[in-house]
Amino acid sequence: MFRRKKAANQAEAAGFDKDMVVVVDQSVNPYLVMFHDPAGFRAEQVRGLRNRLVAMNPDGEPKTLVVSSAVRGEGKTIAALNLAMAFAELERHRVVIVDADLRRPSCERFLNLNAEAGLTDVLLGHEPVDKLLRPAGYRQLMLLGAGSRVDNPAEVLSSSRLEQLVQRLKENFQYVVIDAPPVLPSTDAGVLSAAADGTVMVIRLEHSQKKQSRDAVRTLADMGGNVLGTFVTEIRGRDPDSDSRLAYDSTPEDERE
Ligand SMILES: Nc1ncnc2c1ncn2[C@@H]1O[C@H](COP(=O)(O)OP(=O)(O)O)[C@@H](O)[C@H]1O
Ligand SMILES: [Mg+2]
Repeated sequence: MFRRKKAANQAEAAGFDKDMVVVVDQSVNPYLVMFHDPAGFRAEQVRGLRNRLVAMNPDGEPKTLVVSSAVRGEGKTIAALNLAMAFAELERHRVVIVDADLRRPSCERFLNLNAEAGLTDVLLGHEPVDKLLRPAGYRQLMLLGAGSRVDNPAEVLSSSRLEQLVQRLKENFQYVVIDAPPVLPSTDAGVLSAAADGTVMVIRLEHSQKKQSRDAVRTLADMGGNVLGTFVTEIRGRDPDSDSRLAYDSTPEDERE
């Protein structure tokens, strides 16, 4: 709160509208709303997605979910992290986020963690997965980072160890959320999607191109992926936080009967 006020004053002094100030926290990405603003409208939207996915799984069986999109920069990693955090809010749910974007890994950076051994090291048979899982810094959520850089990500991902890893993770976690690379530039996302139970596609409004998103969904389906739905981010317009109709706080003390 203090930082926001200070930043607003600073912006006003520089001639900007202080209501337009967005404080960008350097340490943990500000779009991780489950972390920064768990009571806000955006976090509630993420819970909405989580609830739908839970409703698709009435028996509560362990599930692996890939988050992807057509191209890079559409908000996949942020969506995957928010979704994993929303799953981790559920009682008695063990959840893991796996960074499978071996070409541009970013989960650790967004969570302000050091890059350590992870997915590639497991897929290459160098380390057992149990040794590399670590807390993501949010409730019980665990992280398997992307791991050591490799020159041949497509090959590493298509090893039979991927299937084994998915099975192993499902023995220990109810939800395995996989942050995938984009679909169109390489086959990686298709391979991951085929190995998972379902895929959520991210569309960034006014940024994603319809044709690309459509092509991506078709590509995943062709490769054996199960696209469950889309998550649309960055909807502009009136800020929901300032629209009282969207607020639904508990009744203030003095209005209670
Ligand atoms: N909902 C959002 N609104 C605005 N910017 C966002 C949103 N989600 C993510 N971003 C920003 O967009 C950039 C790309 O997000 P990222 O999740 O890394 O995309 P991808 O994984 O698809 O490449 C990041 O700098 C992130 O801070
Ligand atoms: Mg990403």
